[in-house]
Amino acid sequence: MKYSTFGLIVSIGAFGSCLGAETKECKTDATATGDATTTLDVHNPEQLDALEGCTILNGHIVIQADYEGDFSLNEVTSIQGNVSTIENGVEGLGLFEMEKLREIDHLHLLGLSGDVKLPKLESIGDLEFVQLSDTGSVDLSSLAEADDLSIRGSWLETKLGSLKTVNMGTQFCASQNCSIYGPERKFPYITVDLPSLKKTDYFEVAGAVKSVSVPKLEVVGYVEWSPSDYFPRQGLRVNTEDTKDNALDFDAPKLHTLNGSLEAYGGVSSISLGSLGKTDVRTTLNTDIPLSFYSTIQTAQHFHIWGELRSIDLPEMKDLGYVSLSYTTELPCNDTLYLLWQTQDDNSSDWDDYNTCLDYDYPQDKRATSQGTATMTTATSSTTRSTEIIPSKNEATISRTSSQATETETASGSTQSLTPENTAGLMFSIPLMDCFVLLMMTSVFMFLF
Ligand SMILES: *[C@@H]1O[C@H](CO)[C@@H](O)[C@H](O)[C@H]1NC(C)=O
Ligand SMILES: *[C@@H]1O[C@H](CO)[C@@H](O)[C@H](O)[C@H]1NC(C)=O
Ligand SMILES: *[C@@H]1O[C@H](CO)[C@@H](O)[C@H](O)[C@H]1NC(C)=O
Ligand SMILES: *[C@@H]1O[C@H](CO)[C@@H](O)[C@H](O)[C@H]1NC(C)=O
Ligand SMILES: *[C@@H]1O[C@H](CO)[C@@H](O)[C@H](O)[C@H]1NC(C)=O
Repeated sequence: MKYSTFGLIVSIGAFGSCLGAETKECKTDATATGDATTTLDVHNPEQLDALEGCTILNGHIVIQADYEGDFSLNEVTSIQGNVSTIENGVEGLGLFEMEKLREIDHLHLLGLSGDVKLPKLESIGDLEFVQLSDTGSVDLSSLAEADDLSIRGSWLETKLGSLKTVNMGTQFCASQNCSIYGPERKFPYITVDLPSLKKTDYFEVAGAVKSVSVPKLEVVGYVEWSPSDYFPRQGLRVNTEDTKDNALDFDAPKLHTLNGSLEAYGGVSSISLGSLGKTDVRTTLNTDIPLSFYSTIQTAQHFHIWGELRSIDLPEMKDLGYVSLSYTTELPCNDTLYLLWQTQDDNSSDWDDYNTCLDYDYPQDKRATSQGTATMTTATSSTTRSTEIIPSKNEATISRTSSQATETETASGSTQSLTPENTAGLMFSIPLMDCFVLLMMTSVFMFLF
């Protein structure tokens, strides 16, 4: 069979453009000379035309307040620099898309009202998206690793199906500043779906949250903080809008390592942590609706149960440190409550009205007795009292002792990091595969003509 000239031209053209598409490296500010990092301030979409054909960008891009329209850079695969909006956000910004982007230093997009499409992005430093308009969805379906992730506002959907590791904080807030507004301000409820997340240093959901799914989450809190870190964020915090008809159930069935703090406030109706064992966690449960709390936790630094409680089951508890009980509901006693009242730091008779365990016949849970897990040591020293902070619903209450910060990590769980080498490998292999498919197609094409 003979190749036609037309087919040959198409095939050479396709191969040429395909090789060319891989290598064009540009500075964000094309007019700049010298080696210094450039910053391009964009005021309108037309300014992006200057970057047409570029696949690798060096430098920053800052979207200015007067920008109106979509932001599309669909050829770019890599950015050595940040893309940000100015701090107060850009009201006129529509769709934000970079269809082929695989890596970027940091992204700070504030005051968004359109969709964000970054379907190929695999790794990033800091990512901060703030939604203004109660619409819009985020596509980050290839993102596997981030240093810090904060997605705030009422997004309709956030696709993060591949996210495995967030080195610092993972934060989802239905409001722009993570505040809780109460029933008077209605937000659409957000869904937090993280089917692959295994490891993060801090995990927070706040505001109008419909559901949270973290079926593979194993480790929260693994970074070694140095004593000089003034305010490390480490731990798990669930602080949701208090509405009776949309209570949140939080279940982290695989979470075996939790450091820092464990906090639940607002409209949380249940927490289940079925893989925890020994921890040094500072626990504060202070919900506005009756909470059911189940955990296999054995040890903690402190354990405070304030607010409303429906049930508590801690079948493996050994020493929960400084125990403080001031839940406002009168509950029938069970083994867990009996042991907690035994070790409550404040033994004064003021609490006798709430203490339904005064005449309790312990132990009743035969399972716990036969396993010999129901032994309790007495509460730890009352010096912890001086470091206590009474939490208010909307404030972080993280305090930390320096001794803790020098502990060494023994947490298991593997870090899956994208090293510069294998990121570069990916960057090459995928375009080459595209080329291969294109070549195959053009060969078929040649046979046809
Ligand atoms: C880039 O982002 C990082 C991390 O968020 C930030 O510290 C840095 O100041 C940013 N640089 C510029 C030029 O925007
Ligand atoms: C959060 O934002 C709301 C309005 O958007 C404001 O009323 C509130 O004071 C803010 N809270 C904080 C802690 O900044
Ligand atoms: C985290 O907790 C585990 C289990 O309690 C402990 O072995 C480890 O040292 C802690 N790591 C950090 C960084 O605090
Ligand atoms: C007591 O513990 C049992 C499990 O042993 C649990 O099913 C029950 O709900 C708990 N009751 C209260 C009041 O916490
Ligand atoms: C509280 O009282 C119980 C028994 O009445 C006792 O075993 C326990 O040690 C006391 N706890 C503290 C912290 O004093």
